[in-house]
Amino acid sequence: MNSIFNEDSIRKYLSVNDKRSIYVFESIDSTNSFAKQLASEGTPDKTLVVADTQTNGRGRLGRSFCSPSGGNIYMSVILRNLSIEDGQLITSCMAAATASAIDELCDTETKIKWVNDIFLNGRKICGILTEGSVDVKRGVLEYVVVGIGINLKSIKNTFTPELLDIATSIEDETGKLPDRCVLIARILRNIDLYIKNISNGNFIQEYRERSFIVGKRIAVLKHDEERMAYAVGIDDGAGLIVRYDDGTTDILNSGEARILKYGEK
Ligand code: BTN
Repeated sequence: MNSIFNEDSIRKYLSVNDKRSIYVFESIDSTNSFAKQLASEGTPDKTLVVADTQTNGRGRLGRSFCSPSGGNIYMSVILRNLSIEDGQLITSCMAAATASAIDELCDTETKIKWVNDIFLNGRKICGILTEGSVDVKRGVLEYVVVGIGINLKSIKNTFTPELLDIATSIEDETGKLPDRCVLIARILRNIDLYIKNISNGNFIQEYRERSFIVGKRIAVLKHDEERMAYAVGIDDGAGLIVRYDDGTTDILNSGEARILKYGEK
């Protein structure tokens, strides 16, 4: 581990008024799974779960998330009191909040690949998995769990060659290893700020400016089928506006878009 990692080492960077519950694990299967369990038992808004390593880190679309120990961030935050409408913006809003925290602390210029992968110098440094539960009777979100995984430490000796092709880390790109407790606190502060303003959509302009996909040729994955398209823009609901090669257009609110490699049609 690159520094002491416990509740106190995180809390010392939070405001004294921040009384959220914090759970820190040396190892856990998945901070999101644990946070979902806590949330379903009624744990309060803003509760934080972090771990030094995950044995079953989970990514979007059922993928796994490689989670080596010793200095990276694997964190999940429980959010309550969000409307269904806010819920549709939460994924992109959290990406903007996290990207801006990384840039503030690491002096980087991160980009966001729709929906919420954070890229640095063309490769992924952070993935976000948002999971929630809807209270059908009341028509509101019971809770949302925002799970954030960031590669801080060099991944050169831990990731497979396939992953090294698409992923990188803050240390590999900047030569510096930020203190993860400081970064966790900065992300929490940004999450609070961005959530407060989520309904007015203020973050959308920042989300657009950070886009790593707009203007590029992409393959849209839908129902196990890839369709070639051009990424035209981001709409006011953070949806991706695409133009397919047959000339039809669409706005994507979920799913997956892959940026085509040089030479791919
Ligand atoms: C993705 O890239 O597809 C999303 C990855 C999300 C990973 C984070 S790490 C903390 C939290 N716990 C998990 O099991 N997943 C998320």
